[in-house]
Amino acid sequence: MSGGADPRSPAATRRRSLAVLLAALVVGCGGGDGGPAPRVEIPPELARRAAPPRSYEKPLGAALRLGPAQDDRAYLRAFATTFTSMTPENAMKWEIVQPKQGEFDFRPADALVGAARRTGKQVRGHTLVWDQQLPAWVADKNRKPEELAAVLRDHVKAVVGRYRGRVAEWDVVNEPFDADGSWTKSVWYRVLGERYVSIAFRAARAADPGARLFLNEVGAERPGPRARALRRLAARLRRSGVPIDGVGFQNHTVIGNNPSRAELLRTFRSYGRLGLDSAITDMDVVIPSEAPPKDALAKQARAYRDAARACLEADRCTGLTVWGVGDRYSWKGSALRPLPFDVSGRPKPALDGLRDTLAR
Ligand code: XIL
Repeated sequence: MSGGADPRSPAATRRRSLAVLLAALVVGCGGGDGGPAPRVEIPPELARRAAPPRSYEKPLGAALRLGPAQDDRAYLRAFATTFTSMTPENAMKWEIVQPKQGEFDFRPADALVGAARRTGKQVRGHTLVWDQQLPAWVADKNRKPEELAAVLRDHVKAVVGRYRGRVAEWDVVNEPFDADGSWTKSVWYRVLGERYVSIAFRAARAADPGARLFLNEVGAERPGPRARALRRLAARLRRSGVPIDGVGFQNHTVIGNNPSRAELLRTFRSYGRLGLDSAITDMDVVIPSEAPPKDALAKQARAYRDAARACLEADRCTGLTVWGVGDRYSWKGSALRPLPFDVSGRPKPALDGLRDTLAR
């Protein structure tokens, strides 16, 4: 081996330290207020070594929020002892990761990804391209299409690249369609047309060839205009060789009107015929305040159980994620009680529905 090529040589070490320092300056702390990087402390009894993660037939995930993960021991415990996958609820969204052009702040996402690793969870990345939680600078009126395409590529490259090898699945594009099946008139669609989708997927594949890339949508679990538009898009992407691996179904739902197991199974299988995986990515089940209290929790449990069964039965469904841990911090508000733990952090029948179904 020639001396110059030895990766352990002092010169190589110096070059490496310089590169690490530069990388830290460029992406590490930029955009933040310069305060200490947040960290989620994992108590020893919740660390992966002490508490091996549960074993399910397919990953059971939860969306995780930084604040409660740091401050609320019961929340962290419920997360760590129940789930096997973690999606950052907000920390990977554009407004947090790149609040100003070229200034990246990965500290919140790093803290959550670190917590997932130390508790033995896999990570779903959420989300790279969306019309919401997008800072105003992106939609600058004078931006030319090629400039916006470059903004998009740079963002995807930076975010996916940072977590290369650590994110199992990415929601690359989120909620591309309106309920009537027309394209959401986001800055992406207005300036770039539908090619924004393929730009994002190609950039994501290049940045981490090992991550599975998903198109994620709300309200497309059952037949309807949005479901049709989504399937047509997925088929076009596959036909034209765009690197897409799967479609995510958020499955935000309500007791008494949740997609049935058969409906979900049909949907997953129809994507399987396109050669695509499916996943349930953001599930919650609202209990409306006017619902008769008697069977409400049992109905909710059934909705979760049905979704878990459908995912289990569909070969190509990769897992089920619920949008939060417990009712206390749900984005829908705790009064609607949509999640598997109650406001005090106690397990609900919904949790049994999920665990019993997915248990090995
Ligand atoms: C929600 C978060 O839960 C909230 O905390 C935030 O204020 C808004 O976004 N579909 C998605 C998620 O794809 O990113 C949304 O998350 C919920 C709906």
